[in-house]
Amino acid sequence: MASSSGQEEGLFDESGTLIRPLSSLTNLKSRGEPVFRDTKSGLVYKVFNRDPKKAGKDDPSGIWFAAQEADVNVPAGLEVQRGERREKNKNGVLTKKPVYILQTRFVEGRFFQLSKGHEKMVMNEVLATKNEEVIKKTIRDLCNAYRFGLTDVQGFITGNGAELIFIDIHRNSNGPGSIDTLSLARKINEGLETLKFTPFTSIKDDGEIEE
Ligand SMILES: Nc1ncnc2c1ncn2[C@@H]1O[C@H](COP(=O)(O)OP(=O)(O)OP(=O)(O)O)[C@@H](O)[C@H]1O
Ligand SMILES: [Mg+2]
Repeated sequence: MASSSGQEEGLFDESGTLIRPLSSLTNLKSRGEPVFRDTKSGLVYKVFNRDPKKAGKDDPSGIWFAAQEADVNVPAGLEVQRGERREKNKNGVLTKKPVYILQTRFVEGRFFQLSKGHEKMVMNEVLATKNEEVIKKTIRDLCNAYRFGLTDVQGFITGNGAELIFIDIHRNSNGPGSIDTLSLARKINEGLETLKFTPFTSIKDDGEIEE
């Protein structure tokens, strides 16, 4: 028993306890850090290589928790821990890599990425809710993301266009985020007028909203 579990491929925590076996996980992408989905538990694990010599420099928790603090909508269930990824190489030898394991809940919804030209799709879905409160909440969320400095803005439109949830958090540390976030917030705000609602008075260049 001990010898077979000692050969198990999977994600392990720092004390060597198995978090999830690799066999239960589906990799959602082919390049860069793996992003695994565990269909059973509804969790997603993004696995960052950890260089023990770099003393926490590649730890993703800082930026993700900072985003959460700044009211940027990130998926629920956010946790980051140090651990190990164990996987057999092509010679069948189990290799152990130190990693950071970022866990969130799997988000159902329509994927968007502003750099891929999805701006209009997001705008249409949000306005199609025809719900002033929901639309204004989304404008606020976009402005929060912009003020936080979110770059390469992407995520999911969930709940019938009612909410944007941002994933793959990256930040411009010395200023505001991607300008396309601000421009989308402004366009949705203009859309409120078309729906005969009262838009915000203005959305300033720094992302502050004037009610
Ligand atoms: N919480 C989640 N819920 C549902 N799907 C997710 C979630 N997190 C990631 N995904 C899916 O996995 C894909 C890859 O994730 P992510 O964007 O974090 O990786 P990436 O683009 O390779 O990141 P990086 O730019 O840091 O290398 C996403 O495009 C999305 O489809
Ligand atoms: Mg991505």
